[in-house]
Amino acid sequence: MWDYSEKVMDHYRNPRNVGKIDDADAVGVAGSLTCGDQLKIYLKIKDGIVTDAKFQTFGCGSAVASSSILTEMIIGKPIDEVRKITNKDIADELGGLPPEKMHCSVMGYEALEDALKGYIDKDELDEAMDELHGKPEHQDKIVCTCFGVTENQIWEALKINGLKTVEEVTNYTKAGGACGKCKGLIQDIIDTYYHKEKKEEEEKSTLSPAQKILKINSIIEKQISPELQKDGGDITLTDIDGDKVYVRLRGRCSGCKNSNLTIKSFVETTLREAIDKNIEVIEVN
Ligand code: FES
Repeated sequence: MWDYSEKVMDHYRNPRNVGKIDDADAVGVAGSLTCGDQLKIYLKIKDGIVTDAKFQTFGCGSAVASSSILTEMIIGKPIDEVRKITNKDIADELGGLPPEKMHCSVMGYEALEDALKGYIDKDELDEAMDELHGKPEHQDKIVCTCFGVTENQIWEALKINGLKTVEEVTNYTKAGGACGKCKGLIQDIIDTYYHKEKKEEEEKSTLSPAQKILKINSIIEKQISPELQKDGGDITLTDIDGDKVYVRLRGRCSGCKNSNLTIKSFVETTLREAIDKNIEVIEVN
């Protein structure tokens, strides 16, 4: 018997926003009835804000809970925040899901992504998703024919959730969970993904001090500052001393609202992910 959080049980017993929106502005589907579960999500969008969301699902209690909480997470939110939501955010919001049920949160993420693809200009979406999740180097192709799971779906599940084994990939995407013929291919994708990640880490560690300073400057200017300015905030770089980055901060970032991140931790996380995990951000007055 799996251990479910109280929040999962609550959303399973009292699902919110069940149903259909007849005049929806965007509709997304994920999963398939032949594979045992499916989710359809309907969105009403006005002036870039999700004003209503409903869902219909055929699946287990975790699928119902994931879909239900997802609708609550997106109603009232701007599209540019909604498209940053990942399956991990859905599972976290539920207080966690058993590993064997993580594919339900992935289904929510994929249905949302499908709906937004239909709504947003495709180039704009591709650019945003590439920036967010990293661009796979391969053409998308079906890896698991039993469940229709593609290479990109597996790649994204690895990137968002830090999966390391074939068993974890099966829990999150279902791929490999029937005949098992695709398990070798899944292992190849895992190996390729971590080889690429290691190479990127090695490239980061070979930056000279001068290159590092230039890169910190560039990321603050092109990535962090625009994000903070969306909510009237901003950042001024005052000094860099080795791994210590001294900044003056103002306001909040729109992307921090949902994650309880402080503005300082947002800056630090962004710089660590892009440049060096040893970077420490120090706020000055
Ligand atoms: S091809 Fe993936 S489980 Fe059968």
